[in-house]
Amino acid sequence: MDAPAKIAVVGTGYVGLTTGACFAHLGHQVVCVDIDIDKVQRLSVGDVPIFEAGLAELVEEGLNTGRLAFVANTGVGVRDADFVYLCVPTPPSTDREGNADSSAGLVDLRALESAAREVGLHVRAGAVVVNKSTVPVGSARLVAKAMGRSDVTVVSNPEFLREGSAVSDFLFPDRVVIGATDRGAAQRVAKLHQRSAAPTIITDPATAETSKYAANAFLATKLSFVNTIAAVCEAVGANVADVLSVLGHDKRIGSECLTPGPGWGGSCFPKDTQALVRMAADAGYDYSLLRGVLAANDEQFNRVVNKVAAVVDLARATIAMLGLAFKAGTDDTRNSPALAIAERLLAAGARVQAYDPAVTRVEGTNIALARDAYAACEGAEVLLVVTEWDEFKTLDVAQLAGVMSALNVVDARNIMDAEALLRHGFDYQCIGRG
Ligand code: UDX
Repeated sequence: MDAPAKIAVVGTGYVGLTTGACFAHLGHQVVCVDIDIDKVQRLSVGDVPIFEAGLAELVEEGLNTGRLAFVANTGVGVRDADFVYLCVPTPPSTDREGNADSSAGLVDLRALESAAREVGLHVRAGAVVVNKSTVPVGSARLVAKAMGRSDVTVVSNPEFLREGSAVSDFLFPDRVVIGATDRGAAQRVAKLHQRSAAPTIITDPATAETSKYAANAFLATKLSFVNTIAAVCEAVGANVADVLSVLGHDKRIGSECLTPGPGWGGSCFPKDTQALVRMAADAGYDYSLLRGVLAANDEQFNRVVNKVAAVVDLARATIAMLGLAFKAGTDDTRNSPALAIAERLLAAGARVQAYDPAVTRVEGTNIALARDAYAACEGAEVLLVVTEWDEFKTLDVAQLAGVMSALNVVDARNIMDAEALLRHGFDYQCIGRG
């Protein structure tokens, strides 16, 4: 490796902490900055507040080798850095009452502007400031303006990390995208990633920023397509698993992101697709295809609710919901399909008893949390699987039959043992099979 670089990372969410810990693992000297002093203190002793595979181990390794430090003061964190990574949240804008309104597609850039202003006060001349946060096209200019430093270059380097596999996605990326007006600065950033041997695309900042939205919009489109093909399969009596196997073997389509489910969610896809629809509209293009993709996702939540309503009277039913996180491998419930579906069931008068192995709290809802899957099923008329945790694949069907008050399963992830359920007298519905 070339001489280790001095890297500062501003923001220790899952993107920032992964970036900092992975750069330290690659041999660089890293300081992570966060305005949350409690978090900095916890991280400084290796207490990682995020559920992310392999991350705690890398933080511990960085602390032990002295290559990773955490500070609450931006000035202290960035003053010696050759590279400053901005990894602060860019959530949907809130309305006057403070409610997030992702459907408007507006992005709240206040944290980014404030971090950039602060960095501008302390960063040394010749440093490169790298924006990793997902931001509307044109935000590299906004960062440069907020910093007010003509001797510092701003580079856009969007992240493509998936929650649950963020560490390996960082260390072994499919590609690296660097947007810069200064090619020398772009090449310096590219060098930090050269060990991964991933294809590197150096382009202008607006193109790099657009590519992040385009990637997420494409994947969301693929998933909505899969879920609508599943609906067609149900209608015509075809088997979605075999249809998708045929599709997945076509190299032009590929088998990834091809699993039907209750709808897609998480902290990125919904926010980024809404933002792209909005950005396009503001620029005079009605992105009707992507609006359709969003509408199909909302329909998918309703299709799951309708499957439950087909076997019970929602106004009186108790439903065992297995899974709350937006996917397995994370404790994140932001924009989780599970919550969207639960809210619709609750609004129809149902009682929802939920269990998720990684989620111990959900705020602002009447979902009752159970200690395990069997406790969630106690007295329930329908078992509804919404997150694809492994432990739901191997539940003891006889025990489920013993605790439920009616034998209905709606498997919105197609993961349960359908034959075992049918043998025990369950009515079994899944996604994409009649
Ligand atoms: C996503 C992008 O993959 C990542 O590149 C970007 O940086 C951030 O957004 P993440 O939000 O972690 O990552 O989730 P991802 O694993 O892509 O899943 C998103 C949603 O799609 C989840 O609700 C998941 O359950 C659903 N999904 C995914 C499916 O229903 N079927 C699939 O085959 C894949």
